[in-house]
Amino acid sequence: MAVERTFSIIKPDATRRNLTGKINARFEEAGLRIVAQRRIWMTRQQAEQFYAVHKERPFFKDLCTFMTSGPVVVQVLEGDNAIAKNREIMGATNPANAAPGTIRKDFAESIEANSAHGSDSPDNAAIEIAYFFAGADIVG
Ligand code: CMP
Repeated sequence: MAVERTFSIIKPDATRRNLTGKINARFEEAGLRIVAQRRIWMTRQQAEQFYAVHKERPFFKDLCTFMTSGPVVVQVLEGDNAIAKNREIMGATNPANAAPGTIRKDFAESIEANSAHGSDSPDNAAIEIAYFFAGADIVG
């Protein structure tokens, strides 16, 4: 299996409920290493650029409002098959469809306030990581 890096966000609903440590424990217990991490308050412009792929979707405006409603934790996770593994740990986008024991099943409040974001492909992982981190910020 290839060692990969993926981009992750612990979203405002989770930081508000002080769940950063519990979510990070899920990653670490599954064998992913947090090789970069920063707590930030996203600007509207950052949220709109980050989610630009969704700009025609009906939920885009509310999503950007939600993502700028409180602090988030942006991070890079590293490990075997990290992109797929992280998506498995997070569970389905809609917590109603997420498998038992996943982050979104256990912590998410709604499809919008779904506690975590993770890259969906190697190409997007590279783009998303570079959006928030310089190479020197990532310590494997
Ligand atoms: P995320 O993985 O961060 O990618 C896009 C986000 O849009 C998604 O998680 C959800 O938080 C949010 N979202 C809000 N409504 C929807 C929807 N109907 N379908 C998909 N994503 C949605």
